[in-house]
Amino acid sequence: MNRHIAPSILAADFTRLGEAVATINNSKASWLHCDIMDGVFVPNVSFGMPVLEAVHNISTKPLDVHLMIVEPERYIDRFCALGADVLTLHQEASRHLHRAVHQIKENGVKAGISLNPATPVSTLADIVQDLDLVLIMSVNPGFGGQKFIERSYQRIAELKELIEKTHSKALIEVDGGVNLENAASLFAAGADVLVAGTSVFHTSDPAYTIEQLLKA
Ligand code: DX5
Ligand code: ZN
Repeated sequence: MNRHIAPSILAADFTRLGEAVATINNSKASWLHCDIMDGVFVPNVSFGMPVLEAVHNISTKPLDVHLMIVEPERYIDRFCALGADVLTLHQEASRHLHRAVHQIKENGVKAGISLNPATPVSTLADIVQDLDLVLIMSVNPGFGGQKFIERSYQRIAELKELIEKTHSKALIEVDGGVNLENAASLFAAGADVLVAGTSVFHTSDPAYTIEQLLKA
């Protein structure tokens, strides 16, 4: 089983964004997670295209772009062109998921779908085979630093079952409230990729914390 950590740049000190990206470049992180929020799909606004482009210019890690925006179809081609390696949109935000997923793939980018905590895993039954990744939100999206929702473990197990049953190659990513206390249980439950913001960037040595999360 492969374990991956995708630090969320949302928790970095934005006055020293370049240093934060360099720290991740020199770490064992697999991807750099970038949260795009529009203030409509979620009650918060994060950063947008110019910042993402700047991060892309200096990141040596693949960019894992998590779109928390309404009507994400409108921006798929632009986010792909800006350098997303994985582009994830929300099941709850898109009326035509199948079309959106294939639009992402036509750009040569890995396609992911994210589920809010109250959205049944079973809603992915007819699309999971086409996906490269499923992102289970383990907090309500919109903010870093929130408390992990325990029910997420069952959702990961359910998703793993669905992936195995359908012979899907999708990776399971978990996002929100991930830390050194729950990382081992999340990997054991079936997670392939853990997103970690606060628990990585709000420590004195983020690269060391990433190693600890991997070894958890
Ligand atoms: C929440 C974002 C997360 C967030 C994770 O809406 O999607 O990626 O940055 O932050 P922590 O790890 O602090 O919960
Ligand atoms: Zn995220």
